[in-house]
Formats: sequence, structure tokens, C-alpha cells
Amino acid sequence: MSAQTPVISSDLIPAALTPVIEALCAVSVDVAAVIARGPLGQSLGSLVGENTDGDSQKALDVLCDEMFAAELKKTDVRFYASEEQEEVVTLNPNGKYALAIDPLDGSSNIDVNVSIGTIFSIFEAKEGDKESFLRPANEQLAGGYVVYGPQTSLVVTFGNGTLMFVLDPADKTFKLVNDKVMVPATSKEFAINASNYRHWTKPVRAYIADCLAGQEGPRDKDFNMRWVGSLVAETHRILTRGGIFLYPGDSRKGYESGRLRMIYECAPIAFLIEQAGGVATDGADPIMGQQADSLHARIPLVFGSAEKVNRVAAYHDLPEQEVSALFGDRGLFRG
Ligand code: AHG
Ligand code: MN
Ligand code: MN
Repeated sequence: MSAQTPVISSDLIPAALTPVIEALCAVSVDVAAVIARGPLGQSLGSLVGENTDGDSQKALDVLCDEMFAAELKKTDVRFYASEEQEEVVTLNPNGKYALAIDPLDGSSNIDVNVSIGTIFSIFEAKEGDKESFLRPANEQLAGGYVVYGPQTSLVVTFGNGTLMFVLDPADKTFKLVNDKVMVPATSKEFAINASNYRHWTKPVRAYIADCLAGQEGPRDKDFNMRWVGSLVAETHRILTRGGIFLYPGDSRKGYESGRLRMIYECAPIAFLIEQAGGVATDGADPIMGQQADSLHARIPLVFGSAEKVNRVAAYHDLPEQEVSALFGDRGLFRG
């Protein structure tokens, strides 16, 4: 992509961050093209190793990490923290930003032609590399994702509302389609990996049991469930038509704080959800007030329509006899 043909341009992107956003977008155009070719190109979903957290690494995870790092090195990004790298990498020693990235989110969906994405978060760099990321989520300058689906879209916030762009395949540029994305206030949809039911805590079980009980339960209405397995796709759906997403902590070894990582998954998603009028918590407290104590730290994540997420927090405050009761007896939550 030459300097004369910016892949994205909008007055709503702060000037100082524009080169970084342009670099992210330019790479994502290439990533989208690689994904679109699927099996016609290299074997994207083949296992190539494990990252430091023990997650399997696929060819596309590694390729995306290399592609983003190479392009961002030419910008003002000083520190680069990636899901695919154990430690922070210094890209431009004179740069003023720290960028955290999940280069490829939803890697279990690579081979099945389902939406996957890239999630990023930008801070101002501090002197220390790790210190630039181990800080409260509400110090982010930007949080966003690109989803590679039927459309390739960029959703991003700079702390002044949430913006949505769509990649126009005709000229390979991102065009603004919504300058004020708002999470619909109500919806009857929830997203959780229900196969973990037996591992959940009582408040999470109680909340989902009451959704499943539908019209006969205390909620007095029927719900619908979705689970894509790509956080970016779930976020995009919730930004578009509301609902709630939960990846709670559970009793499996290593899942005490859920599965999702604070710095390059939960913090940027929480930022853009809150900027779109939604709420994002760890089940009880806002994500935006919290900070990771290590680069790859996990945190439970519950986000979506405000009323729903606040209700989950309320289940965490229920007295023991209420939370253990069968839904029919959960008197406090009728209606
Ligand atoms: P990644 O591919 O970056 O490791 O992230 C996958 C995440 C997230 O996208 C999704 O919401 C979640 O893992 C799915 O987890 P389960 O397989 O436990 O349902
Ligand atoms: Mn991910
Ligand atoms: Mn990933």
C-alpha cells in the first residue's frame, strides 16, 4: 500500500494515531486476502507449536503476528505485546506508543470458514516495557478489532464513542459506516460456552438457568443462545443487535479467571463496548477499572447490553439460599 493511497481516512481518528491505525488497516487488508484464499493458499490452520501459555499456535496465528509486527515497526509503536510472544518486543525505540495485540482471534475457526479477527489496544508508552501494559484499562488511548467475516470491518474507539468501518473490496479502503455505534439496550440473546456448565460458579449457573427456563422461569421470557467461538464475532453481533457474552472463571485447572486475556482481549473489548453504551465487567466489577499483573493474565469477562450485564453482577450479590435455589424459588428475580 503506497503512502499516496491511505487505506483509511477519517477526521474521527486522532491525527497522532493515524499512522498506527493505517498500518493496522493495511496489514488487515492483506490478512483478509490470505484468509479469503483459505485452502487455495498455505495451510493456515495447521498446528505449528504452542505459545507460552500452552495454547496451540496455528500457522495463521504466527503469520499474522509477524505481519503486524513488521508493519508497526515503521510507525510510532515503541512496545509491542502479542499473544504469540512471551515478552514485550521493542519495535521503534523512539516511538511513543505501546500496542497490545491478539493477532488472530478465534483460531479454532480458521479451518471452518467462520469469522475470525484481530484485537488491539494502544497506550502511551512508559519508560518500562512491561509497565507500559500493566496499568489500568481506562488509560487506553484506543481499543479496537478487525473482524474477517462476510465483510471485513474495523470497530474502534479513541474514547469518544465507537466507530465502525467496512473494508470496500472495490478499492481496498475502509469506509466509515457508523460514527456512533450503540449497543441495543435490550435483547433476548446470550452467549456462553454451555459445555462448561458443571464447572461454573453458583451465580453464573443461576443466571443461565433462569435464561434457559424462559417464559416458565423468573425472567418470564424466552431467550436464544449463540456461541461462535470467536470473541470478535460475538462482539460484533452484540454491538449490532445487543445481548450478553460471558466467559466466566470456572473450576477447571487454569480457568479460575476464565480463558480470555486482559491486555489484548478484554481491555480493548471493554473499552469499545462501554463507549457504545454497553457494560463490561469481570462478572461483578468493571473491567475498565482493573489492570493485569502479568502480560498474559486472564480475567473473567461479561459484557453487552447494560441491563443484562448489571443483572449478572446482581446475581453475584444474591444471598446463598437464593443463588442455590431452583429457579422457581428465586423470588428476588421474578419479572
Ligand atoms: P484465541 O483464538 O485468540 O486463542 O481466542 C479464542 C478465544 C475467544 O475468541 C473465544 O471467545 C474463546 O476463546 C472460545 O473459547 P472456548 O473454546 O473455550 O469456547
Ligand atoms: Mn483471542
Ligand atoms: Mn489469538
